Amino acid sequence: MQNIVHSFPAVDPIPLPAPIWLFKLLHIVTLALHFVAVEMLLGGLLLAVLLSLFRSSPASMVTAKALARRLTVVMTYVINLGVPPLLFAQVLYGRALYTSSVLIGAYWISVVFILCLAYWMLYQFQARLEAGRSAWWAGMTAWVLAGFIARLLSTNMTLMLRPEVWRDMYSASGAGIYLPTGDPTLTPRWLLMMAGGFFIGGLWLVYLAGRSTFTVDEKSFIAGLGGKVAAFFGVVYLAAGVWAASVQPQVVKDGLAGGSIYPFYKFFGLTGYGWLALVVVAILLAAVAGFGKIAANWLGWVAVLVAALIEILFTVYRDGVRDLTLLSKDYDVWNRAVVTNWSVVGIFLVLFVGGLGVVGWLVSVVARAKKTMEGAA
Ligand code: HEM
Repeated sequence: MQNIVHSFPAVDPIPLPAPIWLFKLLHIVTLALHFVAVEMLLGGLLLAVLLSLFRSSPASMVTAKALARRLTVVMTYVINLGVPPLLFAQVLYGRALYTSSVLIGAYWISVVFILCLAYWMLYQFQARLEAGRSAWWAGMTAWVLAGFIARLLSTNMTLMLRPEVWRDMYSASGAGIYLPTGDPTLTPRWLLMMAGGFFIGGLWLVYLAGRSTFTVDEKSFIAGLGGKVAAFFGVVYLAAGVWAASVQPQVVKDGLAGGSIYPFYKFFGLTGYGWLALVVVAILLAAVAGFGKIAANWLGWVAVLVAALIEILFTVYRDGVRDLTLLSKDYDVWNRAVVTNWSVVGIFLVLFVGGLGVVGWLVSVVARAKKTMEGAA
């Protein structure tokens, strides 16, 4: 059998400048935020497209426009919240992630261009909606492109876990023109993210229904639609999650039950159950909002909180799956030389927390400006 250990490039002799747990913590927090934005984009966009296509009532156009206006902003969060976890992932898993990125290099680099096109189509969608012109095709194109980017990301994040196929892929082509095949975890993992889009998109509408910029009729339409979509796709999301977990190798499942050399991965496994329980809570909440057409401020905020917690738990579990898969192939993420430079870590943390504060402030300024503009319109 080919030696899998030697498939990983040699470790960088320069030690890590901060503890591994800190890198992992920062990675999980920023990636969970990226996932919240990604799901809002994937779900909110298709909902807006469908609403603008079928135009079943005046409220449906109002909702489509409200979503489209916000989606161009959401896209900035998708991108900016994608950069930090990419950097942290490269620090922790660079030897695996760089290799898989090179192996699908042509597709990987194309993400930049596909992203630009998707962003442009998103602006077209919004502008055409506002101008009362046919817009669904532009929104649909943006959605298909975003879904393809999601597929490429899932492809890379699963290929990095399979050193056993790297050599054959590289022998077939060094130009990065082939996508990997034969990984049973790829499609369930991608579908989980796509289903999560509708689920989180629906919860987003439940939140929007509580905003004061809509009339009473619009609010009850938005709450009814969002709640029903979130309740239905919450069930699909749950099923996709169970599917994605069930196709993981036995050694990963055992590790998540505490049976690896690092028993604390049991905690990562438990987050899976936490995720399951919270999705059920969110489905019930969404059903209350959807069938009762309840557009309450508090309900919206509970939906936001539950959605954020769901993404955090999901990200922790997913992290456990990656670590344990790599561990089974002798890549131990905890086994690195660390020489902590505490003064740099301190400065970084101050800037990080300050940066998050500034982003929060920016979001509140934009939200208030929107309210004023919509109130004036
Ligand atoms: C439309 C744009 C995007 C979509 C739809 C999207 C979607 C996704 C999805 C579905 C995953 C999970 C893949 C999986 O594990 O199965 C993911 C992971 C990730 N995305 Fe994005 N993404 C987008 C843009 C970006 C951008 C612009 C960046 C960076 C600049 C980025 C950075 C990342 C990173 C680093 C991960 C995985 C991190 C890890 O596993 O450690 N994404 N994204």
